[in-house]
Amino acid sequence: MQLIDGKATADKIKQEIAAEVAEIVKNGGKRPHLAAVLVGHDGGSETYVAAKVKACEVCGFKSTLIRYESDVTEAQLLAKIDELNHDEDIDGFIVQLPLPKHIDEQKVIEAIDYRKDVDGFHPLNVGRMSIGLPCFVSATPAGIIELLKRYNVETSGKNCVVIGRSNIVGKPVATLMMQKGLDATVTVCHSRTKNLKEICRQADIIIAALGKPEFLTADMVKDGVVIVDVGTTRVPSTETKSGFRLKGDVKFDEVAPKCSYITPVPGGVGPMTICSLMKNTLLAGKGLLKNC
Ligand code: GUN
Repeated sequence: MQLIDGKATADKIKQEIAAEVAEIVKNGGKRPHLAAVLVGHDGGSETYVAAKVKACEVCGFKSTLIRYESDVTEAQLLAKIDELNHDEDIDGFIVQLPLPKHIDEQKVIEAIDYRKDVDGFHPLNVGRMSIGLPCFVSATPAGIIELLKRYNVETSGKNCVVIGRSNIVGKPVATLMMQKGLDATVTVCHSRTKNLKEICRQADIIIAALGKPEFLTADMVKDGVVIVDVGTTRVPSTETKSGFRLKGDVKFDEVAPKCSYITPVPGGVGPMTICSLMKNTLLAGKGLLKNC
């Protein structure tokens, strides 16, 4: 069994990005610039955005953090998005989710110019991804694919089972796994799927993204399976300073011995997500969708 080390992989990729940025700047090019909009003081969002700003520093990007109190109006937020869309110095930007209830998230996502949508949430990026056009792929699915590639996990012709059909993980990762180049045969399972255990037992690769801690057990997988655990449920813990710890969707201790590869939680897919955002920002800086 080999553990897939997301933290080490993400650190390596950030160093590769930093080297490329140094080269761009040395040759007179522009330093990539990411802006992040943060509304309110949600603890999780504060942590994520701080980590994104820190990652920008590591990669040699310029970053700008724009903060609003939670009583900001939808119109004010949309006006800022319009400004960022037209700001030539900003290559890409994100609006950290969730937003307060009085703001329509979908409206906000769709207001972002898709050519600066480094989160890859805009329907144009989702649609372009699904037909294999250049696009910004959202962070978690992109991070999963990058991990599989970096560990030389064979995907061609393999049976891949995705558990979970969310718009941000299940659906896009299933789409990517079946695309030319990755060439897996993909089955998407969800809460209404019959015979889930039998389907999982046929799988060469399982991507567990349903958000139920320790859902996948040893009796549900075959020997030699590759497991990607996307679960990050916060459970109370007396052993950590924060008072909680992260639990994956896989019962790691009993499943791991049957695997050829497995991602741990924490330290697997999680660290790769911010790294994917950095990759998208670098691509935005290079004008990925400039003429699209
Ligand atoms: N909230 C949780 N994850 C994300 C993310 O990847 N992007 C944004 N914008 N908000 C999030």
